[in-house]
Amino acid sequence: MAATGRAGRYERIYAQLRDLIEGKSPGPVAAMATVCAVLHHKMSHHFWTGFYLVAAEDELHVGPYQGPVACQVLRDRGVCLHCVRTRRPVVVPDVGAFPGHIACDARSKSEIALPVIDGERVAAVLDIDSDRLDQFDESDVEPLMKILGLLEPFFRAETSTQ
Ligand code: SME
Repeated sequence: MAATGRAGRYERIYAQLRDLIEGKSPGPVAAMATVCAVLHHKMSHHFWTGFYLVAAEDELHVGPYQGPVACQVLRDRGVCLHCVRTRRPVVVPDVGAFPGHIACDARSKSEIALPVIDGERVAAVLDIDSDRLDQFDESDVEPLMKILGLLEPFFRAETSTQ
């Protein structure tokens, strides 16, 4: 269950990230690194906070992150790939109960994965792991998706130059 005051904390984080990113970040990697640094250090019980980038069909590569060393490549299964396939946020209260979960670190107990949408496709996934069970619920989805909205112009810009 979301802690009291969590919504307010997300609001303050959003305002800080908007000030740091809009008109200032030079590209998507810098913007993603800024998002995970602020989220990781300002939210409680984030054990790992980072991005996976869609590299190929059914394959994700790690991007900017904060926390212990993580899997560099995710393939064929897992929470993050489920998020890409469904193009929907995924809340996992107990990672042990999610079929196909990929354990990069045994200390992770619960997880949330959210898509960074670029038009029709998912360009990346924000993945947050906690060392506590049941750390995330549906109330985390809207504020985190709002934060991820700050990244969308960077991915659109990348696509349009290809
Ligand atoms: N648990 C994820 C893998 C990434 S790590 O948690 C950092 C998954 O199942 O996709």
